[in-house]
Amino acid sequence: MRVVSFAMLSAVLVTSFAHAADVKEKAAVCAGCHGDNGISQTENIPSLAGQPDQFLQWQLVFFRAGSRKNEQMQPIVEEITNEDIRSLGAYFSQLTPPKGPEDKDPDLSKKGKEAATGRRCASCHTDSYAGTKAVARLAGQREEYLVKALHDYKAGLRVGGGVAAMADIAYSLSEEEITALAHYLAHLQ
Ligand code: HEC
Ligand code: HEC
Repeated sequence: MRVVSFAMLSAVLVTSFAHAADVKEKAAVCAGCHGDNGISQTENIPSLAGQPDQFLQWQLVFFRAGSRKNEQMQPIVEEITNEDIRSLGAYFSQLTPPKGPEDKDPDLSKKGKEAATGRRCASCHTDSYAGTKAVARLAGQREEYLVKALHDYKAGLRVGGGVAAMADIAYSLSEEEITALAHYLAHLQ
């Protein structure tokens, strides 16, 4: 039953995407999953607001090429043109980034901060973790999605142009570090 309704939802989304006239209408299709203004309210779906333009564009290219796989993104990217990729990258990168929720476990954040310093995450993701160019914004991203992303790199499920660095890094992270890092980064403003 769930599979059927998901297939129907995808069909509706893909049809509305193909018929959308401009970037705002196309972005409205994305909002069905990624949330209004690019801020996700849904488990395991990342916020897009404030991600670097290049990072967004590369991920769409990776999905379209099949080097990054996700059953929810797949039907969408099949319809996407290079022009869409450029305009959607520009659109979402200009939205106000998500604000981390109130931190209910500052001790875990402290551990995460130490791990991030030790592992030099900021050397690529920038001091504010806002990301740059093809490097993702991490600040304020959903906590469980950050955990998922690190597990995906660790398991070799996310492969593509800019990923070699992350696969190496994630491979050596312990579960404890992943939990703490995700908590720390999700609560950054
Ligand atoms: C049916 C739900 C759904 C729709 C509609 C959807 N997405 Fe996604 N999107 C997802 C999911 C789920 C993921 C996480 C994939 C993963 O875990 O690897 C994702 C991931 C992404 C990512 C990677 C972000 C990151 O931080 O790694 C980008 C970029 C993206 N989507 C852009 C879009 C755009 C642009 C649209 C509209 C054209 C769109 N998505 C429509 C479900 C959706
Ligand atoms: C050598 C540069 C480099 C370092 C160091 C680095 N990263 Fe990354 N990171 C990247 C790049 C590039 C990407 C985008 C990769 C891709 O296209 O999937 C990325 C992506 C990510 C993502 C996926 C975000 C998303 O929205 O999909 C997470 C989570 C992440 N990094 C966490 C970390 C953490 C935690 C550390 C420190 C333990 C770290 N990174 C260190 C370069 C780096």
